Amino acid sequence: MTARLLPGKPVADAVFADLGPRIDALVAAGHRPGLGTILVGDDSASAGYIRMKMDKANELGFTSPHIHLPQDAAQADVLAAVREMNDADDVGSVLIQNPPPPQIDFDAAMLALDPDKDVDGLHPVNMGRLALGMPGPVPATPAGIETLLAHYGIPVAGREVCILGRGTTLGRPLALLLSQKRPTANAAVTVVHTGVPDWPEYTRRADIVIAAAGVPGILQPEHLTPGVTVVGGGVRYEGRKLLPDVDESCAEVAGAITPRVGGVGPTTIAMLFRNAVEAAERAAAS
Ligand SMILES: NC(=O)c1ccc[n+]([C@@H]2O[C@H](COP(=O)([O-])OP(=O)(O)OC[C@H]3O[C@@H](n4cnc5c(N)ncnc54)[C@H](OP(=O)(O)O)[C@@H]3O)[C@@H](O)[C@H]2O)c1
Repeated sequence: MTARLLPGKPVADAVFADLGPRIDALVAAGHRPGLGTILVGDDSASAGYIRMKMDKANELGFTSPHIHLPQDAAQADVLAAVREMNDADDVGSVLIQNPPPPQIDFDAAMLALDPDKDVDGLHPVNMGRLALGMPGPVPATPAGIETLLAHYGIPVAGREVCILGRGTTLGRPLALLLSQKRPTANAAVTVVHTGVPDWPEYTRRADIVIAAAGVPGILQPEHLTPGVTVVGGGVRYEGRKLLPDVDESCAEVAGAITPRVGGVGPTTIAMLFRNAVEAAERAAAS
């Protein structure tokens, strides 16, 4: 079997096409969206991620104020930067680049952020809103996966979805999202992890398997039922080399599969900007 590929770029393009007129309407009403970014230190990969998001923000017509703190910045400096972004009226959403240098407590910085401005959707208040089904910024990578499955018409409602990994940025919020009562979710979700040594028993019976472990090659064809949809979320970087959770031979068994490069990543960025536009719309309405 040759699996149908599910690239993320067309999904992201569709999301940005939807956001364009909404951004125009906000600007026309005097509520230009803003994405503030905070970067601590000199890590070149982190600087690259921030630059890419600032470029996209500028392209979309956002304001994009940026605070860059030095590698030896203190926690108090980071908290002051977060407060500055919280207080800025032209900044509706904020991204704090993770991971910061080791002396910085990222969770404490995230807790100090105004949850309504949390563009990543990972503030504890937003994880709580997700669990309760309340509106708010939604964790970006999980939201991107739901959007990708919907874009390609992969049925999720009523199907068995098995998520490999219960991490806080991907597996756990994705389980909350896909079990919500909505047409593009509404799934029977199972979450497996190191506490479930026979996890292949669960992935083998699923209609959709989502790898969220960060263990290169952990998902192999023998863990899958023929025709399954496979989404690769987990990756590990060795230097600049990207090592996905999903072994490439899984494409021989799957019916549909995200590509090893350009799968979930583009949808995550699109969801960040969707969160930012929705934050601006909520602020404009209040
Ligand atoms: N593509 C993107 O845009 C994007 C965005 C965000 C995250 N990610 C990637 O998603 C992955 C998950 O990130 P995260 O922060 O949510 O999770 P995480 O904190 O890294 O946790 C990994 C999860 O995988 C499970 N796991 C690890 N090894 C396993 C094994 N041998 N057998 C079974 N389960 C195993 C762990 O189980 P235990 O809980 O039992 O330890 C844990 O639940 C990472 O690779 C990350 O880079 C990608």
